[in-house]
Amino acid sequence: MRKVGIIGVGEYLPQKVLSNHDLEKLVDTTDEWITTRTGIKERRIASDTEATSDLAIKAAREALAHAKLNPQDLDLIIVATVTGDMPFPSTASIVQNTLLAEKAAAFDISAACAGFVYALSIAEQFIARGTYKNALIIGAEKLSAVTDWQDRNTCVLLGDGAGACVLSEVKSGGILSVYLGCDGSNMELLNMPAGGSRKPASHETVDSRMHYLKMKGNELFKTAIRRMTMAAERALEQAGLNFKDVDLIVPHQANSRIILAVAKKLGIPEDKIYLNIEKYGNMSSASTVTALVEAVKEGRIKKGDIILLDAFGAGLVWGASIIKW
Ligand code: UT7
Repeated sequence: MRKVGIIGVGEYLPQKVLSNHDLEKLVDTTDEWITTRTGIKERRIASDTEATSDLAIKAAREALAHAKLNPQDLDLIIVATVTGDMPFPSTASIVQNTLLAEKAAAFDISAACAGFVYALSIAEQFIARGTYKNALIIGAEKLSAVTDWQDRNTCVLLGDGAGACVLSEVKSGGILSVYLGCDGSNMELLNMPAGGSRKPASHETVDSRMHYLKMKGNELFKTAIRRMTMAAERALEQAGLNFKDVDLIVPHQANSRIILAVAKKLGIPEDKIYLNIEKYGNMSSASTVTALVEAVKEGRIKKGDIILLDAFGAGLVWGASIIKW
């Protein structure tokens, strides 16, 4: 089997910034509540003319330039998203067409906040087996399109953005392990009830606000800590490493209190945690990858470092990966 690593990274965050103070004017909330309960100070909101694929394409172009590859070099494009441009075709098809990535197969995956780690695992296997040479994986979301701006329980948490990575064969290091999991029995804790085949769009679903993301955050909180800790332990075990070997944990950014609790349980000190939730909030599948991209850009990740990706979200699903940079 070939060794597979990340050879290029890119991101795109929409220009419009929505601060906690802006939200104080929309719903009954305070900057103090949002900051202390979540760690979020502001988030980005895509414009009316920007769809998820537009964010994805900009992140993809940056990742391709960083990898010094052309779109025509790509064999595979995977977009992880729960807010695709439309139910079908896939957002990945739109990305493939716009990039003119003529020989690339393309599809979306739905694994919510763990979507990037799931996509990483799929792409890695195609390259490791020699089926494909170069893969582009993107986590992209326009969560503002499914946010209920009257619901203070959710609207203060979410944001829009995209991150992308190019995967290829590497001589040393690369992806050492990936651990994925799911427990569908708790799907009611985080979902969007209507718009699919169970409840197609109707006047009733629109009137009862069923096309918005619904979250029982409090009940998710403890499960998130438990599953992210377990996933990280399994990924470390599969890689034959332990928590002392980790140079940087790059987690899904849903809540800084969740992240700090996971790191504490794993025995990873705070200076080895990468956080950017303050600037972007929770961007579902775009969060982990954007954190990874920014950690690279800021020089927090050096060649040879052991990186732990760790994510949890709607499904419920979780995933962790160990990468030697
Ligand atoms: O992306 C992956 C999946 N997502 C997660 O893993 C998210 C997990 N959950 C969380 O991050 C947290 O549970 C939240 C940030 C969503 C909520 O924090 P919490 O500390 O669990 O608060 P809570 O839901 O227990 O609410 C505490 C109080 C409630 O008031 P009462 O009932 O105690 O009077 C809420 O109504 O805070 C109230 N509240 C707010 N107050 C001001 C809820 N939202 C707000 C708000 N502003 N925006």
